[in-house]
Amino acid sequence: MGKVYVFDHPLIQHKLTYIRDKQTGTKEFRELVEEVATLMAFEITRDLPLEEVEIETPVSKAKSKVIAGKKLGIIPILRAGIGMVDGILKLIPAAKVGHIGLYRDPETLKPVEYYVKLPTDVEERDFIVVDPMLATGGSAVEAINSLKKRGAKNIKFMCLIAAPEGVEAVKQAHPDVDIYIAALDEKLNDHGYIVPGLGDAGDRLFGTK
Ligand code: URA
Repeated sequence: MGKVYVFDHPLIQHKLTYIRDKQTGTKEFRELVEEVATLMAFEITRDLPLEEVEIETPVSKAKSKVIAGKKLGIIPILRAGIGMVDGILKLIPAAKVGHIGLYRDPETLKPVEYYVKLPTDVEERDFIVVDPMLATGGSAVEAINSLKKRGAKNIKFMCLIAAPEGVEAVKQAHPDVDIYIAALDEKLNDHGYIVPGLGDAGDRLFGTK
């Protein structure tokens, strides 16, 4: 079964408080989401393989370590996932960015792909799928399906806030995918919003409400 990591670092928790606060305006909300994504990227890359290289410091020769050329891909789920991308790229600027767009079929209520654009070498990359909110888990499960269908083998999922229902759905559908979250909230309400959550992440990021 995939592991669930809750990043309870004080800086992440502090920034998340202001992200949640309804008084926080679009500009600050966007900046904070980006900052938290950077902090989460620091933790999520903890297992990147290193290799030894030889360098010369001003004082002597030295053996030192660099990241062993791991190919990474960041996949925001449209549209709110976009808000996390720049924050992650600050730490891993060479990562490629793919996009997955999903809409909910009004009859089946199931997420359906409407846009998928991925790096060409999907099979060789490790992916981080990002979406600020893991609510029912429907979009996350479908986005991961979509990646796997195209050959992705190593996938992590990262979000700011998760509901227990969403975590369970991803764990059940994709037991090989580890989930990284900044906060595990109480529940979903009748409208599918996470409680207490932060409201609609897309609207708050893009000022559409
Ligand atoms: N998507 C959001 O943006 N917010 C929620 O609370 C749930 C899903």
